[in-house]
Amino acid sequence: MRDPVSTGKALGERRQRKRRSAGRLVIVSNRLPVSLKKDAGEWQFQTSPGGLVTALAPVLRDKGGLWIGWPGTTKAVDPIEPLAVASKDIGYELKPIPLTDREFNQYYCGFSNEILWPLFHDLQSRCNFDPAYWKAYQVVNRRFAQVLASSTDRNDYIWVHDYHLQLVAKELRRMQVKNKLAFFLHIPFPSPDIYFKLPWRLQLLEGLLAYDLVGFQTWRDRNNFIHCVETLVRGVHVDHRVRVTTIKIPGREIKVGSFPISIDFKEYARQAADPEVTKEAKRVHHAMRSSHIILGVDRLDYSKGIPERLQAFKHALEHYPGLRGKVSLVEVVSPSREDIPEYGRLKAEIERLVGEINGRFTQPGWIPVHYVYRNLERHELLVYYRAADVALITPLKDGMNLIAKEYCAANVDDNGVLILSEFAGAASQMRREALLVNPYDVESVASAIHRACTMGEAERRSRMKRLRRSIARRDVFRWVDSFLSAADAQDVALVKSPRKPVGKRGAGTL
Ligand code: G6P
Repeated sequence: MRDPVSTGKALGERRQRKRRSAGRLVIVSNRLPVSLKKDAGEWQFQTSPGGLVTALAPVLRDKGGLWIGWPGTTKAVDPIEPLAVASKDIGYELKPIPLTDREFNQYYCGFSNEILWPLFHDLQSRCNFDPAYWKAYQVVNRRFAQVLASSTDRNDYIWVHDYHLQLVAKELRRMQVKNKLAFFLHIPFPSPDIYFKLPWRLQLLEGLLAYDLVGFQTWRDRNNFIHCVETLVRGVHVDHRVRVTTIKIPGREIKVGSFPISIDFKEYARQAADPEVTKEAKRVHHAMRSSHIILGVDRLDYSKGIPERLQAFKHALEHYPGLRGKVSLVEVVSPSREDIPEYGRLKAEIERLVGEINGRFTQPGWIPVHYVYRNLERHELLVYYRAADVALITPLKDGMNLIAKEYCAANVDDNGVLILSEFAGAASQMRREALLVNPYDVESVASAIHRACTMGEAERRSRMKRLRRSIARRDVFRWVDSFLSAADAQDVALVKSPRKPVGKRGAGTL
């Protein structure tokens, strides 16, 4: 329902502001790139978790602009103080959108993470289709639209991100906002068979069709979306052959394309080559007393396939006895979505498996699994990337998985091996050079572990060099340029702010 009072106010504020000649890039996502936390009475901020923030932060640092999102706390925050400090530090403006405890539970934990997240990752049996969640989702999407309407000018380019905010464009159109509106989905889009389970399937699709450009990570996600639209919406016409296609529905045209996201390759490679990182990586490798270190890095999430990976590692130790005493798995898990019970159960399951494997295989001077459960700073993460001989990245389903790209970017010695799930979006770009596996198939993952640990140097180098070249060529700046040019918005943020170096704080992409 339209809210005439706040709509009128938003429009008034909008008119009052001076028009700028060149539009800004306005990023909108559920989370701001920094999350606030009160510690001993003081507001502290830390880099927000996830691939979305890792990918977009360098883009806004490069182009300047405005980022609108939730500051990561439901406690009342003086909106000016702590975020103004953070904003100065990072070089673009931050605008917080508050959430109440109830909205946090029903819109964020509920609709976004107990419905959309599992459904879009093909894990429909984990969904809790509670109608109260849908109401909260609409209310919060409307609030984002109201704040946007009152904080942007006609020339600004509004780019909304991820599954939490699929209805924002529809709300903005109701408020008569005429700006170009784009949307990028960072997670997969499911096939019609799965999507159609959603009780609000049509409303959500109509929400996406209110944008001018909708971007997906892979060709498969784009096609799934188009098939859903063709089945549910009347009078649709689509040209299937082109990369960025136009969906014609009565009265509107929407561009739809696949734009695989990436990282700031140069920055990762530069930081990884730092002599301090090199020295510490050697020390870590030596301390583990293993000839090979295998690394897994994930946000705590059932879509990441961590228990399945541990089972596969156990299988490798059982069936390739030559690996015992020589190969260690370092599994780094970053705490996430702790208010959702499913995530607590997953943590207990991982800890049980780690205990079981270590209890069974540990020998004096060698531990099979090193388990790290905390947020790592970027520097620590780079040390692990450099120390690891093999990266084992086996999500059950993933939009892209930027850890795979970060590991390669940091592999400045060109000698690591990447084992990658065929169900990660990244597999569509890395399928020739990585060892692709089905994460549900413990035997084939175990065999890939064995193969990676016994692969000759020439093959390792040739694969890793090709991986690094391809990521360097298609970095996050190229991603943003290709998206904006598909949107006919190349001229946003013509006045670029000077690139700021990335600070030490904050890990990479989980
Ligand atoms: C994924 C999502 C992001 C999300 C991140 C962290 O990468 O695509 O939208 O921000 O996970 O999850 P959280 O629930 O902590 O924001």
